[in-house]
Amino acid sequence: MKGKVILVTGGAGGIGYEVSSHLASHGARVVLADLDGASTAARAAVLSPTGDCAGVACDITNPEDCDRAAAFAVDHYGRLDGMVNCAGVSKPHDSLTLPPADWARMVDIQLNGAFYIAQACARRMGDSGGAIVLITSTNAEAAFPRRAAYCAAKAGVAMLTKVLAIEWAAQGIRVNAVGPAYVATEMTKRNIAAGNVNEAQIKARIPLGRLAQPADVASAVAFLLGDASSFVTGHSLYVDGGWLAYGYF
Ligand SMILES: NC(=O)c1ccc[n+]([C@@H]2O[C@H](COP(=O)([O-])OP(=O)(O)OC[C@H]3O[C@@H](n4cnc5c(N)ncnc54)[C@H](O)[C@@H]3O)[C@@H](O)[C@H]2O)c1
Repeated sequence: MKGKVILVTGGAGGIGYEVSSHLASHGARVVLADLDGASTAARAAVLSPTGDCAGVACDITNPEDCDRAAAFAVDHYGRLDGMVNCAGVSKPHDSLTLPPADWARMVDIQLNGAFYIAQACARRMGDSGGAIVLITSTNAEAAFPRRAAYCAAKAGVAMLTKVLAIEWAAQGIRVNAVGPAYVATEMTKRNIAAGNVNEAQIKARIPLGRLAQPADVASAVAFLLGDASSFVTGHSLYVDGGWLAYGYF
């Protein structure tokens, strides 16, 4: 990671901040991008008081924002070597009554936004290529009720990962995905508090018997960004404690 410049969307959130922290601690210069520019910049300053991390406002559903964020990374640190898309929301809702606007918003954030930010960053990566990691979910493979838009969008991102990987391989850009099961972040806390999921049931469903920690996701992301995975592209790596493998009672 030393000297590499990586842009992390959702950088002020649970997984994004941990990914940023992990990359910064391994020598990367990290641009955290999130909805609120001021609080994101403040979080970046905590990670690196000496300026090796910076924050920028970016709504990934807006292609112009995505372009500005990628340009900010290049202007600020002179290059762009990688991008991790951690921005996202979860909003379970019955499919029969799901308003079209809610469907469209979920697809916009989870799928369209992943494409816009990947495209913006790939355009700014130089001749030496780069690496992109898109955060998906076990829901790219496993259907949960009341999550039609979320599951469909995440499955879309898994396929998007493959298409971008084969298309951008010629430019030396690798594209992979990391799909966590439930991670101990604010998103999961909100879902537990709202009664959308039950923590004891989740733990019982996961063979390794616990929620993922953001650090579990961060180390998988770092592997896919770094030279240790230089021949891996178009792949989805599930950080799920065995969730997808489990098919028994
Ligand atoms: N937490 C889990 O259990 C879990 C499991 C599997 C996958 N994921 C996925 O991981 C990603 C990160 O989740 P998290 O747990 O860190 O959530 P989080 O709520 O802690 O953080 C999400 C961050 O994304 C930002 N964000 C939301 N919409 C955005 C937009 N349009 N543009 C830019 N930033 C935006 C939020 O401001 C927030 O900082 C999401 O894509 C989520 O679907 C999470």
